[in-house]
Amino acid sequence: MASLSFTRIGGGHHQSPVADFAGSRRLAAPATARPGRVALRVFASESRGEPDLSVTVNGLNMPNPFVIASGPPGTNYTVMKRAFDEGWGAVIAKTVSLDAAKVINVTPRYARLRAGANGSAKGQIIGWENIELISDRPFETMLKEFEQLKEEYPDRILIASIMEEYNKAAWEEIIDRVEQTGIDAIEVNFSCPHGMPERKMGAAVGQDCALLEEVCGWINAKATVPVWAKMTPNITDITQPARVALRSGCEGVSAINTIMSVMGINLNTLRPEPCVEGYSTPGGYSSKAVHPIALGKVMSIAKMMKSEFNDKEYSLSGIGGVETGSDAAEFILLGANTVQVCTGVMMHGYGLVKKLCEELKDFMKMHNFSSIEDFRGVSLQYFTTHMDLVRRQQEAIQQRKAIKKGLQSDKDWTGDGFVKESESMVSN
Ligand SMILES: Cc1cc2nc3c(=O)[nH]c(=O)nc-3n(C[C@H](O)[C@H](O)[C@H](O)COP(=O)(O)O)c2cc1C
Repeated sequence: MASLSFTRIGGGHHQSPVADFAGSRRLAAPATARPGRVALRVFASESRGEPDLSVTVNGLNMPNPFVIASGPPGTNYTVMKRAFDEGWGAVIAKTVSLDAAKVINVTPRYARLRAGANGSAKGQIIGWENIELISDRPFETMLKEFEQLKEEYPDRILIASIMEEYNKAAWEEIIDRVEQTGIDAIEVNFSCPHGMPERKMGAAVGQDCALLEEVCGWINAKATVPVWAKMTPNITDITQPARVALRSGCEGVSAINTIMSVMGINLNTLRPEPCVEGYSTPGGYSSKAVHPIALGKVMSIAKMMKSEFNDKEYSLSGIGGVETGSDAAEFILLGANTVQVCTGVMMHGYGLVKKLCEELKDFMKMHNFSSIEDFRGVSLQYFTTHMDLVRRQQEAIQQRKAIKKGLQSDKDWTGDGFVKESESMVSN
């Protein structure tokens, strides 16, 4: 359906801002973090040998920042065990609710967008739409599996993803019961865009700051483990619910969940896809195509967190279209402590984590970074307003005029090689 080509961004080229940036993080946050929960800390390796990928986020030690995002890769005991065995830093299970009998899935529930001529079946998958709901497996079964995993992997981080209806008692019960299994943290799904909002769940809460504040209040009064709030991108300003969640006591924010989408229309049948008995419903978009959108949302949240919250107590988890170590490095450069992967695992398998770790280490070696904290948030400072870009460019042009190098403005174009000539205006 689409023909696209991508240019990967090379690594950054300025190392000097690293120390400045780390020193400039502000320590002004609302005093809502529970005293019982441990603050964020990241281990830096002492030697300049192999880069250290380990992170400690909200007191949770992970061998690397790569986290299985809630979804099919965290459906049951077998696949979560597999994720631990392959070396994922942490696993977030598929979202659970108290009454799985109310969750009724349909098939087909996935549709894919491929790059290449007219969506050729051979083109690389770049976009993925799903109309899958949260877990339809019995809650008690999921609880038993969490318990078993924590017994077998006591040192690994297992995070329960939860969602409930607008009912305080239900939220208190689900938190109590998942915590009894020994899980290390909770991610609250305020973000599934399809199906669940019809029951005032998921994105219906994440899109309504008043509702979100009330529900986060219930959750954080009950929870004794760290709580991450998973944000929906289907909102005008994602910093608003992120701020509300953190002010209401959540220790972390995860972003993004899927983007509301319609994958396409079959031009033979005139029916939308994925097509269930001739009909469809808008679903959630993920995979490579959403990566730039996710980076934009994470950048906005990170800027807000940097200016309003204490970086040592709050965490940010970047999600969306991660398939390479470079994709992950971008989220971390914007301030993410961890990076989650869902569709990438569905396409490439659990062994993907090894490639992600190697590629992230290669990036770190290239810049002589020894720990994740060495470069976390470093690129955030290079985002500014358009007016500031104009000012900076005018200054640069003035300087170039002074040294008479390259073209000074459009009026100097000769018409031979527009791209080269326009680039000469900014690269000299
Ligand atoms: C098939 C599918 C099912 C998903 N189910 C859940 C879910 O149960 N809970 C949740 O919080 N996110 C769910 N997600 C969203 C992912 O966790 C993730 O936020 C999103 O897909 C973007 O990341 P990605 O591009 O790495 O897939 C699901 C995504 C997909 C593709």
